[in-house]
Amino acid sequence: MSIDSITTDTIPIVIQQSDSSKLSEVDFNNLSFGNHFTDHIFISHYFDGKWQDATIQPFRNISLPPAMAALHYGQSVFEGLKAYRNQEGKVFLFRPMDNIRRMNVSGERMCMPQIPEDFFLEALKQLVTTDAGWVPETVGHSLYLRPVLFGTEALLGVRPANEYALVIIASPAGYYYSEPVKVLIETDFARAVKGGIGYAKSAGNYGAAMYPTILAREKGYQQILWTDAKEHKYFEESGTMNVMFIIDGKIVTPPVGDTILKGVTRDSVLTLARDIGIEVEERRVSVDEVITAAEEGRLDDAFGVGTAVTIAHFSAIGYNNKDYYLRPLEERTISLQIRDRLTKIRAGIETDVHNWMLEVT
Ligand code: COI
Repeated sequence: MSIDSITTDTIPIVIQQSDSSKLSEVDFNNLSFGNHFTDHIFISHYFDGKWQDATIQPFRNISLPPAMAALHYGQSVFEGLKAYRNQEGKVFLFRPMDNIRRMNVSGERMCMPQIPEDFFLEALKQLVTTDAGWVPETVGHSLYLRPVLFGTEALLGVRPANEYALVIIASPAGYYYSEPVKVLIETDFARAVKGGIGYAKSAGNYGAAMYPTILAREKGYQQILWTDAKEHKYFEESGTMNVMFIIDGKIVTPPVGDTILKGVTRDSVLTLARDIGIEVEERRVSVDEVITAAEEGRLDDAFGVGTAVTIAHFSAIGYNNKDYYLRPLEERTISLQIRDRLTKIRAGIETDVHNWMLEVT
C-alpha cells in the first residue's frame, strides 16, 4: 500500500492506495446503476468541532456504534453527482459545487456541521483521481459519486450529535432506466410538507417514499408522481426526480421550494431548454391541467430529471384508474434534443458554454 498526503487549505487528506483492483470484475458493456463500487472510499470524521482524519483508503466496510445518531434519529443526508470521461480521456466532475452547496443546505436543516467547500471538492477530486480507471468511456455512462454525511455519536437522548462522518463512495453507472417508465399520480400519501424537509436530501425522505412506491409497483407502475400534501392537486416531484411536462410546446415545472429538491439536473435541463429557445414556466402545475392536456392531445411530453437518471421519460401517467399514454419516444423532440446536448457537453463533444465541467485529472 502506498501512502500520499494532499493538503487543502484546511484539512489534509491521506491517500492509501489499494494493492489490488476489482476493476477487471466489472462488465462495462452491461453497466446498470449502483451495483459495483470502486477500489477506494473517502472517509473523514468530525469531532471536537472540526473535520479531521480525512483519508482515501481501500474500499472496506466500516465499524460504527450501534447507538449512533444516524440510525436512531435519522441524522443522515447524502448527495449524488457524476464524473465523466471526455473524448480525449480526461475526467471531469459535472457541477460539483452545486452538490457541495446543497449538501450543506441539507446538513443545516438536519443540524449537522457544515463541510468546508474546498475540502469537500478536494475529497471528490482525489477520490476520482485515485479511481480514475473506473470512469467509463462509453458516452452517457459515468462514475456516480455518493457522498453521505451522518451522525456517528453514540447517544439515545434526542439532540444533534457531536460527531459525524463524511463518507464518499463511487460506482460506475450506466442508464438507470432502460425504457420509459409508467408513473402513478399519488393522491393519498405525501412526500413532503410545507415546513418539512422535502428540500433536503435527507435519507428519511427516501425511506418514507418506499411504501407508496411499492404499492404503486403492485399496480403496475414503476414510479410515483407526488402531489402536494395539503390538497393533492399540484405536482411536486416524481419518485426521486424533479418533474417536467411539455404542454403546447412549453416546459412547465413546479418551482423549487421547501417541499421540492433543488435539482442540479433540473436546472441544467431548464438552462439548455432556454438556450434553444424553448419557453419555460416554473410555476405550480395542477393535476387537472396535465390530465386535461393529455385528453386534448396537448401533452407533448412528461419526464423526470435527476442525477441518476438524467431524463427519464414517462410512457404513461395513471390517474383515477385510467392510464394516459404519452407519445412515442421518437416524437419527443424537445426533451431528446436537450438530453443529447447535455450528453455531448458531458462527453466534451459540445462546448461547455455554462462552465459546468470541472476537470479532475
Ligand atoms: C440522484 O439522482 O442522485 C438521486 O438522488 C436518486 C438516487 C436516490 C438513486
